[in-house]
Amino acid sequence: MLRIRVIYCEKARNGTPPGVIAAPAEPVHTREMSIEPLRWLDPPAGPAIELLDQTRLPAEERVVTCTDVPQLVDAIARLVVRGAPLLGVAGAYGVALAAARGDDVRAAAAAISAARPTAVNLAWAARLALRAWERAGAGTADVPGMSARTAAVLAQARAIADQDALASAAMAGHGLRLVPARARILTHCNTGSLVSAGEGTAFAVILAAHRAGRLARLWIDETRPLLQGARLTAWEAARAGLPHTLLADSAAAALMASGQVDLVLTGADRIAADGSVANKVGTYGLAVLARQHDVPFVVVAPLSTVDLETPAGPRIEVEFRADAEVTTMAGRPVAPAGTAAWNPAFDVTPPGLITAIVTERGLVQPVTPGNLRDLGASAGSLAGPQAASYVER
Ligand code: MRU
Repeated sequence: MLRIRVIYCEKARNGTPPGVIAAPAEPVHTREMSIEPLRWLDPPAGPAIELLDQTRLPAEERVVTCTDVPQLVDAIARLVVRGAPLLGVAGAYGVALAAARGDDVRAAAAAISAARPTAVNLAWAARLALRAWERAGAGTADVPGMSARTAAVLAQARAIADQDALASAAMAGHGLRLVPARARILTHCNTGSLVSAGEGTAFAVILAAHRAGRLARLWIDETRPLLQGARLTAWEAARAGLPHTLLADSAAAALMASGQVDLVLTGADRIAADGSVANKVGTYGLAVLARQHDVPFVVVAPLSTVDLETPAGPRIEVEFRADAEVTTMAGRPVAPAGTAAWNPAFDVTPPGLITAIVTERGLVQPVTPGNLRDLGASAGSLAGPQAASYVER
C-alpha cells in the first residue's frame, strides 16, 4: 500500500571530475517521492481505511486496516495516523466509513472529532463530512451498492484530500520566497508526506528549497517524547536525498548560538484568530531561541488549520498524553517506576515571535489578527488556493 515514486537523476557537470561534487547551483540529486499514508478501500475489500502505521516507522512499514470507526479512533489516539492535515483527511473518511456501514453517522463524527483535541483539522473535516451526509438525499448512488449519502460523504473526503494536496504545492511555492541561498533550516516534529495528501507543510517548503538548490542542510530536532523528528522526518529526508542532521531537542540552543541556522520552519496544529500557533511541544522554545539569535521563525500551514473561532492562544485546548510516553523510550523505562510526568503534546507560540505564516493563499507577515482575517482564512471554507498575496501592514 506504500506507494513511493522515485525519480533519480544525476546532473553531468562540465569540468567536474567524477566523485567531486561542485558547489551546487542546482541540486545534484533530485528524488521525487510520494508516500501514501492513508487509503480508502471500496467494497469488496472495504469499506475500510488503510493506514501506514506511523508508530512503527522507520523500523517497519506496516499497514493497519480500520473497518469501523472505533478502530479508526484508536488509531488516531495512538498516532498510527497523525499530523494536522492528514488527521483531517482521516476524519472525513472515518465519517464515510460510518455511513457506508450504516452506523450512527452523527455519533461517529462526534467520536472522531474528540479523538484528539488540538489539531483543528480533525473536527473541521468531520464536520464537513457530516454536513455532506446530512445534505445528501436518501436514495441510490451511481456506485453499485452505495447509498447517495455515502457517495456524498466520500466525495467530500476526496475533496478534502485533493485540496490538501493542492494547498501543499501552493505553500511550497510561497514558502520558497523566504528561503535564502545555501539555507541551513531547522525543523521540528514531522511535516512531510506522512501528514498530508501532498508533500506536507514545512517539509514541502524544505523539498522545494532542495529542488531549487537552496538547501545546504536540514537540521532535524529529534522531537521528544515520541521522536517524530528522529523516526519520521529523518526517514523522509533520507528518502528524498536531503542533506540532513539529527539533533537532540536540547541542542537547538547551542546550534543557533553557533550561527548554523538561517531559518526555522515548522508546521501547526491550530492557529488561533490572534495568530498564536499550537504545534508539537518544543516549538515555542525554538521560537524564543530564534528571536534571541535573530533567526526568522516561519510557520507553514494550510487554511484548514486556521481556527478563527478560537480567539487567542490561551484558549487553544492542548492535548495531554500518558506519562509513559515520557517515562519510557521505545517501550523501556527511562525513569524509576512511579515517576510522574508532565506531558503536553503541544505548546503555543505567541504571534509576536512568528516572522510569517505561509498558507496556500500566500504569506501572513506580520502575523496579526487583521492580516489573518484579510487573507480570507476560514476553517469552515473549502476554497481552493488562490494567487500569492503578501499581506503587510
Ligand atoms: O502529535 P503529532 O505527531 O500529530 O503532532 C504533529 C505536529 O505537531 C505537526 O508539526 C503538525 O501537525 C503540523 S504538520 C502538518
